[in-house]
Amino acid sequence: MLVLGIETTCDETAAAVVRKNADGQGEILSNIIYSQLDEHREYGGVVPEIAARAHVELLDKVIRRAMTEAGVRYSQLDGIAAAAGPGLIGGVIVGLTTAKALALVARKPLIAVNHLEAHALTIRLTHRIGFPYLLLLVSGGHTQLISVEDVDRYTFIGGTVDDAIGEAFDKTAKMLGLPYPGGPEVERCAAAGDPTRFTLPRPMIGRPEPNFSLSGLKTALRVEAERIAPLTEEDVANLCASFQAAVVDIVVDRIRVALGLLRNSAWKPRALVVAGGVGANRTIRGALEAVTIDAGTPLLLPPPELCTDNGAMIAWAGIERLARGMTDSLDTSPRSRWPLGASVAA
Ligand code: KG4
Ligand code: ZN
Repeated sequence: MLVLGIETTCDETAAAVVRKNADGQGEILSNIIYSQLDEHREYGGVVPEIAARAHVELLDKVIRRAMTEAGVRYSQLDGIAAAAGPGLIGGVIVGLTTAKALALVARKPLIAVNHLEAHALTIRLTHRIGFPYLLLLVSGGHTQLISVEDVDRYTFIGGTVDDAIGEAFDKTAKMLGLPYPGGPEVERCAAAGDPTRFTLPRPMIGRPEPNFSLSGLKTALRVEAERIAPLTEEDVANLCASFQAAVVDIVVDRIRVALGLLRNSAWKPRALVVAGGVGANRTIRGALEAVTIDAGTPLLLPPPELCTDNGAMIAWAGIERLARGMTDSLDTSPRSRWPLGASVAA
């Protein structure tokens, strides 16, 4: 089974060709990602109109390269998949419309993929893992714990009530004068800092439902930074380290609660799977390793290049759906909001 996948929901213009071999294993034949970092850097964040325009300008070339590198013709494809949401609507329209046009001309089925479902299923492209598993999705736009029970079958276990974790990293970086995107910069500075230098709050810790809250932590950091301004390089390092330590404590506690909730349920997870850009953070990865060893649940991490947004995850989700006969009509609408799974939280 051979599928072209298109991703345009945020600031990556991406296309990939992925094959599922007879033994059930996935193989990435091409994975082209154009990251619009330069276009957005001077604004300190993603500007939706600029992103949509860049997708229009780049997508044809990115798709052509993905097809050429994979060495396949449209006639050989079994389907064309595109992220149909959730995300910035201008970009989603560009990707989905392009996929519809290709599907129509090449007479191939269209698969309208939920971007979050694609993150959730990526691990099955690289690892042999059956359902169910617990997904921690941590990116610039999302912080969610999802029980992945089958393709198209998800239960929302918990999520952030305010900022996403990646967003909190990015805002912290901005506050401290570090460049965008902030996550990797905060991690770099934190390595040289003292995580006990500032006492920052750990919102939600100890609460029985596995939700997250980051905005109080962000505010506390700002208050500390303003109190000791002007900041030296050492202050910035200590603030980054203290912030990261608070995030790690929050994540570890929330995971522990989620695993505890699911342990005695019908959906006892076979593993904890991490997806999203924040999953690249080495301190967070290390802490997750410790908490999963403790809980006796294996930790599975996709390679970092498949943690962040890419076309291969869309193609793979397309394959998983196509294999179950799930295709979509050409009048499928793009969606800016599209949650995965019903909430189990009261
Ligand atoms: O999944 P992703 O590439 O894009 C979406 O948000 O969909 O995630 C990007 C986010 C940004 O907020 C970025 O600051 C954060 O992931 N991030 C990190 C690290 N690398 C990326 N956060 C903490 N530590 C990192 N090493
Ligand atoms: Zn994403």
